[in-house]
Amino acid sequence: MTLTVRAPAKINLHLGVGAPREDGFHPLTSVYQAVGVYDDLTVTRADGWSVDLVVADWIDRSHVPLGGANIVDRAAALLAAHHGLVPSGDLHIDKAIPVAGGMAGGSADAAAALVALDRLWGVETSDADLLAIAAELGSDVPFALIGGTALGTGRGEIVEPVADHGTWWWVLVPSTEGMSTPAVYRHFDELVPDAPAVPPMPDALLAALDAGDPHALAAALHNDLQQAALDLRPDLAGLIDAGEAAGALRGVVTGSGPTCVFLCESADAARATAADLRTAHDVVLVTTGAVAGAHPVSYV
Ligand code: C5P
Repeated sequence: MTLTVRAPAKINLHLGVGAPREDGFHPLTSVYQAVGVYDDLTVTRADGWSVDLVVADWIDRSHVPLGGANIVDRAAALLAAHHGLVPSGDLHIDKAIPVAGGMAGGSADAAAALVALDRLWGVETSDADLLAIAAELGSDVPFALIGGTALGTGRGEIVEPVADHGTWWWVLVPSTEGMSTPAVYRHFDELVPDAPAVPPMPDALLAALDAGDPHALAAALHNDLQQAALDLRPDLAGLIDAGEAAGALRGVVTGSGPTCVFLCESADAARATAADLRTAHDVVLVTTGAVAGAHPVSYV
């Protein structure tokens, strides 16, 4: 039996960050959207356990941590322990989500592994248990399971879908150099020593999503980590200006960066913006949201 599960990248339409909690994590009010850039994970039944990887030609394979510490190994170990099993299977990851880019590529792989191994092992984990295991693996993993457009609270792991009546066109510009999420959060703490205990709700942004209005959504895009990311990577400010000058309604850093995302009014506007940005950047992707969370795409 061979099964392929596809899991999407996420972007943050809103990322509100509060003061660090006692456990070191930051309370978040996040609006996630799953977009059409995917990692595919294929599992085949086997007695032992192996994970291998191929990457899109613009991703540097050496930046992907493989070996026991990979989030996919941890996902398998947690799911197996939940059912009193030992992990088994040959896994193959086909990666197109930027690495260390603020787009939750590792979380997508973990979510895909949970869905795929649940089927491979025939263990029929409940949705609630799968979401709880996902939350243990990382703040963004539960969202990678549900996809769509969702509000994230807690440390980002408590997710609920929100009303979204738009088809949103995005231009994504990843960076060849990834960025460390903990380093960006640490710098945020220095920049904003008086952050609130609970970041406020992004009411205008939620209304724009519900209305399907790209101009209102563009005006409401916000990321509390953006200044910290720009301080660590000053070149990103020029990229955001260039995308907006090329016709995007608005550009922002997504998550902890360094990927920048540009909301465009239409497919044509997105293609024109991307063509302009390609004169200075090697990798410029055009995509849409919202798309589904981790889901099987082939089964033989
Ligand atoms: O949960 P995840 O493993 O994705 O988090 C990676 C790192 O990002 C954490 O170790 C922490 O430094 C930072 N983080 C945080 N607050 C969050 C989410 C992540 O400080 N809500």
